[in-house]
Amino acid sequence: MKNSTDHDNPMQNLDDWEDNLKERYPDPSDMTKDKEEFRNYVDSERVDTVREFYRVNHRYQTYDFVCQKEKEFLKFDKKEMSLWEAVDFLNTLVDDSDPDIDLDQLQHLLQTSEAIRADGHPDWFVLTGFLHDIGKVLCLFGEPQWAVVGDTFPVGCKFSETIVYPEFFADNPDSTNEKFNTKYGIYEPNCGLDQVKMSWGHDEYLYQILKDHLPEPALYIIRYHSFYAQHREGAYTHLMNEKDLEMFEWVKKFNPYDLYTKAPVKPDVKALKPYYEELVKKYLPDVIKF
Ligand SMILES: [Fe+2]
Ligand SMILES: [Fe+2]
Repeated sequence: MKNSTDHDNPMQNLDDWEDNLKERYPDPSDMTKDKEEFRNYVDSERVDTVREFYRVNHRYQTYDFVCQKEKEFLKFDKKEMSLWEAVDFLNTLVDDSDPDIDLDQLQHLLQTSEAIRADGHPDWFVLTGFLHDIGKVLCLFGEPQWAVVGDTFPVGCKFSETIVYPEFFADNPDSTNEKFNTKYGIYEPNCGLDQVKMSWGHDEYLYQILKDHLPEPALYIIRYHSFYAQHREGAYTHLMNEKDLEMFEWVKKFNPYDLYTKAPVKPDVKALKPYYEELVKKYLPDVIKF
């Protein structure tokens, strides 16, 4: 599927926003290469499309918008698929740009999970790496890019200045709504993130799909892996409880695997499949409702 460049879908490639992430949070173990990558990035017209992506994301991700998407998608009446059908379905999302450099969705998932496996982590952590972006099927249900990917952040309280392109929140009606625009907004101090609505996207969606099937740290990773304002900036600790703080150590542990394992080396899907089939069978039901 080609993403046309329009108001709702400014990026040519659904994952172009991740270039911006790597600029903001460069790989500390790879600083020399980053300079080169950074130059490529700033020279590219992707900067403008990613900026435009965040402009619409910050404008439209309101508290009411999230409530509306929850109603629409948490009925799970869109499609029933096995995990493998979902992976194939997600992989029909093909990039518009740089086919030589960009990896398809399955390759990103396998690179992430294989890097986790190579470091000797428990099997549920490997599986989490393999699953973490499956929620991007939202795009194939016709959702705009700004409601699928990008940094996530709490709605219902003040938007942090540490969120990328914070100036764009000026166009979000919640930022002038006095119910929502204070430090705590509608929430209580340290109420726990489970009480806090996050901007809508692939993270929350997949969490809701899998919440009965994976261990708690896996669910935290899936639900909050794009919440950079917390796992990198610590900007919302005032909403978190003890459990959240403990579980975010896993979210932090996961992040470098997600962000820095995108070398243009294609994993051998055929050779790896039996291992992942066993792993999927161990934790997930045969049919999953999307
Ligand atoms: Fe993701
Ligand atoms: Fe990812």
